[in-house]
Amino acid sequence: MQIEVILNGKEVVLDVKEDELLADTLRAHRLHSVRKGCNTTCCGLCTVWVDGRPVLSCATLSVRVQHKQITTMEGVSEDAEEFARILVSEGADQCGFCNPGFIMTVLAMKNELHNPTEEEIIHYLTGNLCRCTGYMGQLRAVKKYLGVA
Ligand code: FES
Ligand code: FES
Repeated sequence: MQIEVILNGKEVVLDVKEDELLADTLRAHRLHSVRKGCNTTCCGLCTVWVDGRPVLSCATLSVRVQHKQITTMEGVSEDAEEFARILVSEGADQCGFCNPGFIMTVLAMKNELHNPTEEEIIHYLTGNLCRCTGYMGQLRAVKKYLGVA
């Protein structure tokens, strides 16, 4: 079947199967920032935005996003690069496999929360796992990016 969506600002028609997951649809569309890790809603690697809110694309049927706005990291590359530079400066970039999903969550947080506390930041990021960094560098980077360091 076909679905119409606005993908990174452009109207597109996508061919999808009824049981196809959004992560697979987006990767088939060459949006390789969308990563898959656990496939069980535990790691956050597959985070994209649907109508501006972060969702787990490994747990979202593509047919459910008909007529919605889908944003991947490719669609917010300038903001993503700005935050990625801060991540690197804080030593919070190691294997980098988790970065796209993590960055999409942080950019969504910047849009949603104003002057969040450290507890609110940690709570917002609960669904994004990183096996490499120990989180403290990431937390410093997020606070710097949000201007609450
Ligand atoms: S791959 Fe979607 S949460 Fe892990
Ligand atoms: S940097 Fe390696 S999992 Fe996050």
